[in-house]
Amino acid sequence: MAATSAAAIDKSAMVKQRIAVLIGEMTLEEKIGQMCQVDAGMDEVSETLAEDIRKGKIGSVLNQVDARLVSELQRIAIEESRLNIPLLIGRDVVHGFSVIMPIPLGQAASWNPGLVEACAKSASIEAAAHGVNWTFAPMLDISRDPRWGRIAESLGEDPFLAASLGVSMTKGFQGENCYGVSNIAACAKHFVGYGAVEGGRDYATTNIPENELRNIYLEPFKAVVEAGITTVMTSFSDIDGVPATGNEYLLRNVLRDEWGFEGLVISDWNSIGELETHGFAENKEQAAFQAVAAGVSMEMAGDAYASSLAALVKKGELDIDIIDEAVSNVLSIKFQLGLFDNPYSDPGIFAETEFNDALKISHQAALESTVLLKNNGVLPLAKQEQKKIAVIGPMADDPYEQLGTWIFDGNPDLSVTGLQGICRAAEPETEVAYCQAMKTTRDAEADIAVAVQLAAASDAVILFLGEESILSGEAHCRADINLPGCQEELVKSVSAAGKPVIAVIMAGRPLTLNNILDDVDALLYAWHPGTMGGQAIAELIFGDAVPSGKLPVTFPRHVGQVPIYYNHKNSGKPPSKEKVVHIDTIEAKTPQTSLGMCVFHLDEGYEPLFPFGFGLSYTRFSYSNIECSNKEISAGNAVTLSAEVTNEGGVAATEIVQLYIRDLVGSVTRPVRELKGFRRVFLEPGQTKRISFELDSAALSFYGRKQERVIEAGEFCAWIGGDSRADLETRFRLVL
Ligand code: BGC
Repeated sequence: MAATSAAAIDKSAMVKQRIAVLIGEMTLEEKIGQMCQVDAGMDEVSETLAEDIRKGKIGSVLNQVDARLVSELQRIAIEESRLNIPLLIGRDVVHGFSVIMPIPLGQAASWNPGLVEACAKSASIEAAAHGVNWTFAPMLDISRDPRWGRIAESLGEDPFLAASLGVSMTKGFQGENCYGVSNIAACAKHFVGYGAVEGGRDYATTNIPENELRNIYLEPFKAVVEAGITTVMTSFSDIDGVPATGNEYLLRNVLRDEWGFEGLVISDWNSIGELETHGFAENKEQAAFQAVAAGVSMEMAGDAYASSLAALVKKGELDIDIIDEAVSNVLSIKFQLGLFDNPYSDPGIFAETEFNDALKISHQAALESTVLLKNNGVLPLAKQEQKKIAVIGPMADDPYEQLGTWIFDGNPDLSVTGLQGICRAAEPETEVAYCQAMKTTRDAEADIAVAVQLAAASDAVILFLGEESILSGEAHCRADINLPGCQEELVKSVSAAGKPVIAVIMAGRPLTLNNILDDVDALLYAWHPGTMGGQAIAELIFGDAVPSGKLPVTFPRHVGQVPIYYNHKNSGKPPSKEKVVHIDTIEAKTPQTSLGMCVFHLDEGYEPLFPFGFGLSYTRFSYSNIECSNKEISAGNAVTLSAEVTNEGGVAATEIVQLYIRDLVGSVTRPVRELKGFRRVFLEPGQTKRISFELDSAALSFYGRKQERVIEAGEFCAWIGGDSRADLETRFRLVL
């Protein structure tokens, strides 16, 4: 062991030395070149791009994934540029490459770190085979707002879950240490606070008090930095008046000084130039200065660095050390990836076996991501009893739209649609009849008469509804998050035909489903499930597999409740069933102060439609006998919390057991619940297992009033259960 670590130290010292030598040999223009990333999206390598690479004006390209052309770019860089420095080749490999996995929000619903890692690993191998060595993922923006289109790319609303799955994704992309032909560098984005854009409108302002920023929004970023992520991307938005791309406090003081991040920080697409648009810089030169001074090592797809940095240095306004630091960050990733040893990709690493593995992983991920939100007993659908099944809806047979946002390289020809999946999984004797009913989910009119007739003539109806890929993702926010178009009318009409109705929703965000919940017998939330979505959904419907997904984000009843999330503060007037009143029950001339007086809406109350962590199964799980190893723990020690979970039904199934705590009193107010542990547990019918979570005292710490991590004595509640409303409770004290 000692020899290995000595070798590792030698290697890193050697790399540092090689970087220093290279920087010593570089002209100012070559240094700035390393700090520039350009968009290469095109069919051939243009002479302009080739010439810029030869002259050392480019450190990285993005959006070229033709292996032959990427090789040519690398060849020019290492054979024809003066210092032979290889290129970083960036691409948004967000949830798969040609084989698409469920959207990240869907993957988060699996609560399965190993599976999330496998999804990223598979995508990484395929991307690397195309010459890509850097992805812009994981996206770690905590999002409490389903109007925001980019919630699809996120890992949900909870810092603990997002941190845990973000670390898994990072490992999947980077492998042990990034080195090697099938690993690619990961990028934590968007630093930071982007998920809190006002009104859920992409790119808008964010205002997050520092205490909330530290306790919630920064946590997943901190976790991936500790896990060795190599790159970080800044956010487009401004935060408390300072655009993230020029935010010296966050990028230097927090990310680098406090957390010790030594990697590369990249701007978002032209977000340096946009410092001018924000009204934060007078011109491009000032914008470039602000970004580089804040610690942004590379500019993505803009020309602020290329056009201004040299002049700033020559005028003596910018210290060359700041440039050298940025260049060193860029070069060190190139060394870490092994590009100086071998910059070329090997298409052979993604052969038939890896392709088949990718399909298997996509299938498993779709199975585990799908959340059963309602079931009055109709599911699983007894195959043998179905003479005719009606498959209806605009999302039933669309190989592209089930893939979701950010699928530049996704291949819809590989998709198994819902209709195909049902046809494959049903008994050969069963007739499967299909009616699209609406061309798009947004249509104002549907073939309702045809759909109703079909439903009436069938034994069961499976409705595939939701929203197309383009309705979520970057820039695609919605103010109304009901099912678009006349889908609600379609559901109600089909339901009136009197046959069992199973609704499958494919969407990039939580939709408000309150209007149709009573009209369906079962509701499966499949997100945008990816390539193998249709097969997985069909298997779940027929009981060939059992749903296990749990919501990584709260589902509101009505969009007006947003933001609504489980880990909110208690306030001085917490709501309860006894206190709230409904608008319809208010009598005329009631004095204002006699009503409600707690945190709620007169028309929608205070509860969501489905809470964080929620998801049903084909069996029922019960929780009992919660135990706490010691009623008092001191700093540096741990407490073990455990409970028994029993499979009460007749089907073997997996339950996601969740641990929540509440710090009852703090020097800053604490959330009413915080997720602190989770475990996927497989149980045979009738089986009971005791599930334990060890909680270190550090897990009870938080950022206090001085924005430093504190650990405070006091009483804690803990609950173990199947969602964030778990009521099996115990208590313990932290003593100092
Ligand atoms: C997005 C980033 C993305 C980049 C490159 C930007 O518009 O905000 O998340 O990585 O484009 O495609």
